Amino acid sequence: MSNCSPISVIRGRFLDIQQLVQHPSEIAEQVRYLEDGVLISEHGKIKWFGTWQDAQAHLPKQVEIQHYPEQLIVPGFIDTHIHYPQTEMVGAYGEQLLSWLNTYTFPTELQFKDRNYAEHIAHFFIQELLKNGTTTALVFCTVHPESVNALFEAAANFNMRLIAGKVMMDRHAPDDLCDTADSSYQDSKALIEKWHGQGRALYAITPRFAPTSTPEQLEKAGQLKQEFPDVYVHTHLSENKDEIAWVKSLFPERQGYLDVYHHYGLTGQRSVFAHCVHLEDEEWNRMHDTDSAIAFCPTSNLFLGSGLFPLNKTWEKQVKVGLGTDIGAGTSFSQLQTLNEAYKVQQLQGNKLSAFESLYHATLGGAKALDLQDKLGNFNIGKEADFVVLDLNATALQSLRQSRAKSIEDSLFALFTMGDDRSIHATYVYGQRKFSK
Ligand code: GUN
Ligand code: ZN
Repeated sequence: MSNCSPISVIRGRFLDIQQLVQHPSEIAEQVRYLEDGVLISEHGKIKWFGTWQDAQAHLPKQVEIQHYPEQLIVPGFIDTHIHYPQTEMVGAYGEQLLSWLNTYTFPTELQFKDRNYAEHIAHFFIQELLKNGTTTALVFCTVHPESVNALFEAAANFNMRLIAGKVMMDRHAPDDLCDTADSSYQDSKALIEKWHGQGRALYAITPRFAPTSTPEQLEKAGQLKQEFPDVYVHTHLSENKDEIAWVKSLFPERQGYLDVYHHYGLTGQRSVFAHCVHLEDEEWNRMHDTDSAIAFCPTSNLFLGSGLFPLNKTWEKQVKVGLGTDIGAGTSFSQLQTLNEAYKVQQLQGNKLSAFESLYHATLGGAKALDLQDKLGNFNIGKEADFVVLDLNATALQSLRQSRAKSIEDSLFALFTMGDDRSIHATYVYGQRKFSK
């Protein structure tokens, strides 16, 4: 499918965001749009990027130029929160978070004690990411260590940068889905030693959420983070009002939900908290002070009726945020569909989410949320060559709409509103084409 030369040359229309910003009003001036551009990658990294005219002196001899004259090329999408074992259960009817977990999620996750089953779904999952233009994701596995091995192996086959971890969960779930404080520590430690920094794999300590961990287990999670400071922490926070009340009753000695995680040393620069729909003001301040990140999951928040995430607060409080699909509470693998719903969630709160801000969250902002801004998120030289070739005319209706687009921003907004997996023409990982329509 892809040629195996260490060098790739891609020509086409490129769009990215050059630099991190502090405020959405600064994004437009950081937009870089090359009508006729060239990206040269070598051994997976971006070696040269610029206009076709300037490229002439840099084009390597005898390397085919992969030309996409009709498409639009953007950095690979980054999904900051997704559950691979829930791939098969998208669209589970009628419940909100806590009953949804008991009715649908736990029975589904039980299947992953079977290594073959885990491998099958892991492979399907990675292909689905690529089919949707997602080149990096922060992923929940199940409590079973083998589910983690299956996923990292599947990702390594495609050379993908992926962060994942074994769920730690020692109460309030079926016995077969529970570990213990001690076994979760031992299993996670062995997985960190096996996978963290292996190729493009990175590990996340993954307590499911405060209600399914005893204080002893959260203590162990904190111990792991101390012993391996550059691994990630990945969990859920303040998604649903009943969940928040439950956490307060389980941990009455703590000041609130986030304080539970903070107390056990689980906040910080590489900590990602999914949802954060109902944070209190002191919690927003603590998210900022600890440099923790949020995964905003609009399709999930709407599907489970969890609430409307106040995206503007992330700018006001200077808290890092990325987009998450949260499959299988979320309803699409597509970051385009996720942005479509993100826009509506902001509309319902009287705010406007611009197309350029959307692009920022899906790429460079997501990279920052995962503390990978030095490696991912735009076409700067030296970064990893992960990118997506988008087809703006995937359907007749989209083609009609695009023909009326007044600017690149308008064109992008229409794509984010109407696009889905049909809009992904090709996906490149580490300089090589790994999916093509
Ligand atoms: N909170 C705890 N577990 C889960 C989960 O699997 N999905 C979502 N959306 N929220 C959770
Ligand atoms: Zn989740």
